[in-house]
Amino acid sequence: MSKSLQAIRGMNDILPEQTPLWRYFEGSVARLLDNYGYKQIRMPIVEFTELFKRSIGEVTDIVEKEMYTFEDRNGDSLTLRPEGTAACVRAVLEHGITGGGQVQKLWYIGPMFRHERPQKGRYRQFHQIGLEVFNLDGPDIDAELIIMTWRLWGELGIRDAVKLELNSLGTSESRGRYREALVEYLSAHHDKLDEDSQRRLKTNPLRVLDTKNADTQAVLVDAPKMADYLDDESRAHFEGLKARLDAVGIPYVLNPKLVRGLDYYSKTVFEWVTDKLGAQGTVCAGGRYDGLVEQMGGKPTPGVGFAMGIERLVLMLETLEQIPQEISRQVDVYLCAFGEEAELAGLALAERVRDELPNLRLQVNAGAGSFKSQFKKADKSGALYALILGDDEMAQQVVGFKPLRGQGEQQSIAWDALAAHLATCVVQG
Ligand code: HAM
Repeated sequence: MSKSLQAIRGMNDILPEQTPLWRYFEGSVARLLDNYGYKQIRMPIVEFTELFKRSIGEVTDIVEKEMYTFEDRNGDSLTLRPEGTAACVRAVLEHGITGGGQVQKLWYIGPMFRHERPQKGRYRQFHQIGLEVFNLDGPDIDAELIIMTWRLWGELGIRDAVKLELNSLGTSESRGRYREALVEYLSAHHDKLDEDSQRRLKTNPLRVLDTKNADTQAVLVDAPKMADYLDDESRAHFEGLKARLDAVGIPYVLNPKLVRGLDYYSKTVFEWVTDKLGAQGTVCAGGRYDGLVEQMGGKPTPGVGFAMGIERLVLMLETLEQIPQEISRQVDVYLCAFGEEAELAGLALAERVRDELPNLRLQVNAGAGSFKSQFKKADKSGALYALILGDDEMAQQVVGFKPLRGQGEQQSIAWDALAAHLATCVVQG
């Protein structure tokens, strides 16, 4: 196929055989968020480039190297959103819905775009479910976010395969003091740092902490520790969070090197990681960003949130074989009709049944066909039952009701009694 007719590298079609699992996952998360009192918000996919520069930070990988930025016909610089927090903050400010201390508990779902090197679990268009909470500054809400995800992992059957890593970055003042101490220490060991870390030392020194380079890691062993620079308020906040996780029984690992790749965080940061996916093991990540709203022109407004990567979590469900049986069946009943008269009667009968059983997954054969071919299609659809309308059934105003998965013999059911009969045989979603 010529190149122009292929999807862009790192941007994937989600094919019909994959969508049931996506919908199961998305439905599970949506239900959970509804139950905890979160409301959905939908933002545009494109924003002014400036929004991401100001919020994510000029010297982050995302802004420096990964954004899909272009000029539109008016000459404005626009960017396909690389994440959801910036746009969500822009939206709540623009509509004034966090003014006067109003609490907002919001969630969103959709595609994000980053020009990263594609590999398993890392794509250029990927999908996140994210949530953001505004105007709650205590550790109780940080804990709620984590408790909610813990419940989700339990419901999905993947709890044993994920680990929670936690850190506190402190306030911007305490982080500033720590940054100075770290720069002083690392500068004294400049020659032993890898090239990337030497560059980061000048632009974004905290990111040196999460280097993968062994020599730089060796230098970091004796580096100043962020925990020693935490201010009292951040320390108390972090203790409050840990106490709540302990109370619920959620295990965690403290990771003093967890700094996150976006600049807006303060105090709590966390990541849920797994070793089941290879190199791209972070399935959900977030933290607190108490300074961001103000930095973007609003009144001081505490914020906290996270986002999970749908591709990675779907991959996990597949890898751990946690795919519920019922999602593979998408048809309950398949109606076969033979001859034009039967086809017309079948259409009308199907609509009557749908009126009475709106959740029934009833598929009517399209494209006519012989008895054999319609039956083959019925079987292939995965349906539990076939309904048969031929000359005999038409004459008697009945429909043949045939179990396709070995639950008994074929019977004749009167048209008027069909919906009631189906209601007793098919468990409807
Ligand atoms: P993030 O850590 O950049 O945070 O992304 C969150 C999650 O999105 C990652 O843990 C991962 O599961 C998924 N993800 C990121 N990049 C890719 C990719 N290239 N391919 C596949 N999956 C990916 C944020 O985006 C923050 N906005 C989270 C947040 C919300 N913090 C506070 N509120």
